[in-house]
Amino acid sequence: MIKEIKHPIIQNKLTLLRRKDTPSKDFRDAVEEIATFLTYEVARDFGLREIEIETPLTRCNSKILADDFIIVPILRAGLAMVNGALKIFPDAAVGHIGLVRDENTHTPIEYYKKLPPNIAGKKVLVVDPMLATGGSSAAALQMLKDSGAKDIIFICIISAPEGINLITREHPDIPIYTAAIDDHLNENCYIVPGLGDAGDRIFGTL
Ligand code: PRP
Ligand code: URA
Repeated sequence: MIKEIKHPIIQNKLTLLRRKDTPSKDFRDAVEEIATFLTYEVARDFGLREIEIETPLTRCNSKILADDFIIVPILRAGLAMVNGALKIFPDAAVGHIGLVRDENTHTPIEYYKKLPPNIAGKKVLVVDPMLATGGSSAAALQMLKDSGAKDIIFICIISAPEGINLITREHPDIPIYTAAIDDHLNENCYIVPGLGDAGDRIFGTL
């Protein structure tokens, strides 16, 4: 399942990300804000359960979110989405998966993994601004499944058809939420039109 979220506020901020002269601080802030809005949209269909509470006037039944949440950024670029997602789920635990694309083969190399315990019973939100070939996200999703995760959602900002096809093929059970489906990958596996290298723009390592 792929869902493109075309909310005008998100699309407006996406333009800021795409502009090549947007400074690193503004870029980082916009990634965080888009992450908040995307997470809010993703949560639209999440389950609720009823509990009994006491208001200043009486006892009544009221609803709370049924699930516990884990946010997992794919390092580095996914880190910039964490605080945005935490604004929606402030009690979520945060796991980390470190992957970097080899510059020549464009395939991901794993360098870090630290996940919270009891991942099996929780809803896991994987965040990464870019879904290009899909190699990094497919590997991260597999690492999470191997660690016991059963309920996973992937949230990205810009995606390429090639990456969507890979995730749909290798992980047909994982919903993908994205703010944009771009045209294609170039010869270096960068998304076109895209926004360039997300990690470098976030952390000023251009
Ligand atoms: C970027 C991006 C994704 C990956 C997408 O990370 O944040 O993780 O590339 O490309 P793919 O779909 O072809 O795997 P990168 O490997 O550049 O590492 P970084 O976040 O540390 O810059
Ligand atoms: N990673 C990025 O940061 N940008 C792309 O366009 C592709 C992979």
